[in-house]
Amino acid sequence: MILVTGGAGFIGANFVLDWLAATGEPVVNLDKLTYAGNLENLQALDGDGRHVFVRDDICARPLVDALLARHRPRAIVHFAAESHVDRSIHGPDEFMRTNVEGTFTLLEAARAYWNGLAGTDRDAFRFLHVSTDEVYGSLGPGDPPFAETNPYQPNSPYSASKAAADHLVRAWHHTYGLPVLTTNCSNNYGPYQFPEKLIPLVIANALAGKPLPIYGDGMNVRDWLYVGDHCAAIRAVLAGGRRGETYNIGGWNEMPNLTIVKTICTLLDEMKPDSGGRYERLITFVADRPGHDRRYAIDARKIERELAWRPAETFETGIRKTVHWYLEHQDWVAHVQSGAYREWVQKNYGGRE
Ligand code: NAD
Ligand code: DAU
Repeated sequence: MILVTGGAGFIGANFVLDWLAATGEPVVNLDKLTYAGNLENLQALDGDGRHVFVRDDICARPLVDALLARHRPRAIVHFAAESHVDRSIHGPDEFMRTNVEGTFTLLEAARAYWNGLAGTDRDAFRFLHVSTDEVYGSLGPGDPPFAETNPYQPNSPYSASKAAADHLVRAWHHTYGLPVLTTNCSNNYGPYQFPEKLIPLVIANALAGKPLPIYGDGMNVRDWLYVGDHCAAIRAVLAGGRRGETYNIGGWNEMPNLTIVKTICTLLDEMKPDSGGRYERLITFVADRPGHDRRYAIDARKIERELAWRPAETFETGIRKTVHWYLEHQDWVAHVQSGAYREWVQKNYGGRE
C-alpha cells in the first residue's frame, strides 16, 4: 500500500480517488482536516476497505512512525500543506509549521523507516514530494517557461515555505540517500477545489450574484492544468521517475486571469443563464495581492520525454467539466462555505474595494 498525506484536500482527494480507480492498491490517508480538508470529497469510498483514513497531523512524529510501522507502505505521496497564497500573506505561521516542519518530520520518519527495510523493499521505496511552480518566482512576458534547472526565487510566504520543503527533500536524498522524487506543478483546477481559489471562487460568486474580484489589472498569467492530469502525472513519476530527480508538470496552457474569468462567465451564460443579465457584469477590479507574481509557465518537456506523460484535457474540455461539476454539486459548495469561510472572505476582500 501507499501512504498519502493531505488526501482529504483538493488534489489529494482527487489523487486518492484516481489512484484506487487506476491501480486498486490500498491507501492510508493521513490528513489533519484543516479548513481545506473535507471527508465529503471521499464519500465515494465509504465502506471501501482499500482506503484507511487517519485524522492527524504530519508534524506528529510518533504518530507517523506508528503508521509506517503498522502499514509498511511502499511509498509516501506527500500533498499535505497550507496551499493558499493570500492566507500565507495574512498569517504565515501555519505555512512554516505544516509545509516546512511537517515535511521535515515526514522525511525523518521516512528515513528511519527506510533504513529498517531490506532488499527489494528498500530498493522500491519512494518518497514523492508534491510541490509547486511558484518556487521559481515570477516570469517576464518574454521569458522561457520554468525548467527544472531554473533557480529558486520564491516571493510569497507560501512559495518560500514550499521552496524550503523542496530543499529539505533534496538534501535528504543527497546526504542520506533517501529515494525521493519531487514534482513542481502549475495551477490546478477541477472538482473539489476549495472556493478560496480563483476558479471555484468565481463560479460560486457568479451563481450567488456576488462580485467576481479581479486582483490588479487581471493580466497576471497562470499555466492551468486539469487536476486529473496532475494525478496521472504523479502516478507516472512514482512508477518511473528517477530517484532524486524533480519533474515539472504543466499543461502548456498560459492564460491571463481576466480571460479565465470571462471564459467561466460565458460557460455559465450557456449552462445556467441568469435573468439579471450576462455574468460578466459582476467582474470587479479590486486592490492587487501584495507581491503578486506576474507570470508562471511550465516547461513540461522532461516528464513528457522521460515518462511519456501528456495532459489528456485541453483547457476548453477541462473548464467545461469543472463548471458542470460545480453546477451539479452546489450542496458541496454550500457545506464548505461555513462561518469560518465567511470570516476569511471578510478578511481578504473587506479592505480591497
Ligand atoms: P488543499 O489546501 O486543498 O489541501 C491541503 C490538505 O492538507 C487538506 O486536506 C488539509 O487538511 C491537509 N493538511 C494541512 N495541514 C496538515 C497537517 N499539518 N497535517 C496533515 N494534513 C494537513 O491543497 P491542494 O490545492 O490540494 O494542494 C495539495 C498540494 O499540492 C500542496 O502541497 C500544494 O502546495 C501542491 N500544489 C497545489 C497546486 C494547486 O494549484 N492547488 C499546484 C501545485 C502544487
Ligand atoms: O502555481 C501553483 C499554485 O497555484 C499552487 O502552488 C497554489 O497552492 C495554488 O493556490 C495556486 O496559487 P495562485 O495564487 O496562482 O492561485 P489562486 O487561485 O489563489 O489565484 C490565481 C490567480 O488569480 C492569481 O494571479 C491571483 C488571482 N486572483 C485570485 C483570487 C483568489 C484574483 O484575481 N482574484 C481572487 O479573488
